[in-house]
Amino acid sequence: MKITVARGSLDDVKTQAIILAFCEGEKTLSGPAAEIDKKSGGLLSDVIKSGDFEAKPSQVLVIYAGGFKPAKRIALAGLGKRSELNLEKIRRAFAKAMQHLRGLKIKEAATAFDADLLPDKKEKVVAAMAEGAGLGLYQYTPYKTVKQDDLKNFLQLEIVARPADYSWIQDVVQKTNIITDAVCFARDLVSAPANEMTPGILAAHAQKLAKKKNVACRVLEKGKMKALGMNALLGVAAGSHQPPKLIILEYTGGKKGEAPIALVGKGLTFDSGGISIKPAEKMDEMKTDMAGGAAVLAAIKAAADLKLPVNIVGLVPATENMSGGGALKPGDILKSFSGRTIEVLNTDAEGRLILADALSYALKYKPEAIIDIATLTGACVVALGEEVAGMLGTDDRMIKEIGEAARATGELVWELPLWEHYHDLIKSDIADYKNTAGRMGGAITGAAFLSKFVGESPWVHLDIAGPSWTTKDRGYIPRGATGVPVRLLVEYLRQYSARKQHVH
Ligand code: BES
Ligand code: MN
Ligand code: ZN
Repeated sequence: MKITVARGSLDDVKTQAIILAFCEGEKTLSGPAAEIDKKSGGLLSDVIKSGDFEAKPSQVLVIYAGGFKPAKRIALAGLGKRSELNLEKIRRAFAKAMQHLRGLKIKEAATAFDADLLPDKKEKVVAAMAEGAGLGLYQYTPYKTVKQDDLKNFLQLEIVARPADYSWIQDVVQKTNIITDAVCFARDLVSAPANEMTPGILAAHAQKLAKKKNVACRVLEKGKMKALGMNALLGVAAGSHQPPKLIILEYTGGKKGEAPIALVGKGLTFDSGGISIKPAEKMDEMKTDMAGGAAVLAAIKAAADLKLPVNIVGLVPATENMSGGGALKPGDILKSFSGRTIEVLNTDAEGRLILADALSYALKYKPEAIIDIATLTGACVVALGEEVAGMLGTDDRMIKEIGEAARATGELVWELPLWEHYHDLIKSDIADYKNTAGRMGGAITGAAFLSKFVGESPWVHLDIAGPSWTTKDRGYIPRGATGVPVRLLVEYLRQYSARKQHVH
């Protein structure tokens, strides 16, 4: 959903509903609410006095505005206490208000920017309003046998801006629309069932992105992988009828020859576990095992649309992990693209196998930094819960910067250690490495394994097994695919390219 910006003020719009966000426990109204209160003869202060609307976080109340001309309804959205206000609460409030209005089958709404909310962060406040509204209305509908038109989101939000604010608000909203589009693109890819999101279909989506300016796509096929010796990726693919693809997307928004950032995303379009098969319960969720790959495609889409002055190479090894006759067997040994050998003790630890080859391949680009994104381990979900990604890496500066991007976007990460002794746990008796070290510290040993394939390059691994999918609605993240960590990646790339511009 695109959010639009118009010049004007809320008391002279003509729309079905106005959204106003409030802080809890305040006697005097501020910003656009104060103006509307005055124009409507105290409509809002009456409601607040009545106690029917306390403005608790995510609370929504729709009131009918009587003789008030600009809109029949006013949706009051709660932000909680001003002292506890943050961007996340703004995102949620706008998501909840929009979801509520959609429930009333409303097609158009308007809101305005309140300069008193987090006054030192006005651009971020407007971005949060637009993100909350845009992301909160997301629905995955292509497979519902009803009139598709009825499922579509017709609810439009217009942000009305005073002439003095119009141009910066327009700029922020336009950029935010690009980012929410990219997040919804990732959500669509992840939500698609595995029979409709094969490695080939994922590659076709990447190829479509190459229509954008400065984006090129190449897909390495099985024959090429064989010639290159990518036996770790090929090993995982061997149990499936679907041919594997190594998707390579290059975005060249930066200077010619400037070293790129490499984004490497796990693209398991279905993970049955292979011969080390997973239990039936919730196996369906393993259609989401390409969420890291989807995030890479979406981040490059956003970078291209935002025209970020940076070079990026995206690598997505894509395959299924099945248990066909050719499948890997526990105990098999593979010679990876790097030349190092891997003993496969558990065929369900397949993500690290395909990433090993993709990470080694990334080194060909002499990247400035490598970020890999993967639904790698259930252990990470046990450690950090379902809403937080694990972060491990070799570069303190990248870790700090990614942590900052995470806090700015609300896509949370927490660092886990990669101390020396963990590396001993993935040594094999008869090969260079083994692909599992058992359950203990599973998120860490998974990352320790990946670290063997990144050479000297600064590298950070994000384990998104928890936050890539949610079984409950969470404000602007409706249940299903979350699109995490697309916003984090785009924020990191924006900051990175801004720093680069500064230096030159
Ligand atoms: N794709 C899974 C990890 C996963 C689990 C993602 C739950 C999302 C939700 C991964 O391939 C896997 O199976 N990992 C194993 C590793 C183990 C065998 C060392 C795991 O976590 O059990
Ligand atoms: Mn697995
Ligand atoms: Zn997996």
